[in-house]
Amino acid sequence: MNFGPVSRQDSLQLKGYRHACHVMIYAPSDEKLFGKIPIRYAVLMQLRFDGRLGFPGGFVDPADGSLEEGLNREVGEELGAGLALAESDHMCTHACSTPPQKLVTHFYTKKLSLAELQDIERGAVTAREHGKEVMGLVRVPLYTLRDGIGGLPAFLSNSFVGNARCQLVDALRSLQLVREPWLQLAIKHSHR
Ligand code: APR
Ligand code: MG
Ligand code: MG
Repeated sequence: MNFGPVSRQDSLQLKGYRHACHVMIYAPSDEKLFGKIPIRYAVLMQLRFDGRLGFPGGFVDPADGSLEEGLNREVGEELGAGLALAESDHMCTHACSTPPQKLVTHFYTKKLSLAELQDIERGAVTAREHGKEVMGLVRVPLYTLRDGIGGLPAFLSNSFVGNARCQLVDALRSLQLVREPWLQLAIKHSHR
């Protein structure tokens, strides 16, 4: 699947495309792994029904009044949380014209406190789609261990749905959650 960037506005004029919205929830963290490796941020993804990693969210239905209404409905179903995501949380949009499905993916990011993020993690097991569309939430390790592979490089070697891997890397870069040289190395040392 080949996704190219497009503006949110322009994407709404495209004919014959389905739209999907997903969100990356993250929170600053002072915690340390093994008492020494800084976690820095808790970043949430999920293991999906198809065995791939992705972000919470999904297809926007014709009955949804807006992209964000569709996103909030999907987040409710998958996380059991009312996040009230808005257009101001939108980060980027991509379009894929490869058959069988013409798809536009809208990506949002939401910064919470660590306590708020932990509430979502606890509540997620009671969500309607837990154990169905969503096999569980996972946190993304942002550090790289001394072997140069463990942590973010190994995480990036997993199988991701759609353009979720690109969305993750772009967000880590533009929100400056991982420093650029470390991000470059993690991408280089991930095997796909
Ligand atoms: N995370 C998840 N999916 C993404 C992402 C992402 N970051 N980016 C793009 N996608 C694409 C995938 O190709 C995915 O199939 O968006 C599509 C829709 O997103 P889902 O979250 O899978 O859709 P959802 O409405 O939650 O429900 C899954 O899809 O295939 C159908 O019948 C299946 O009912 C199921 C539904
Ligand atoms: Mg869904
Ligand atoms: Mg979904």
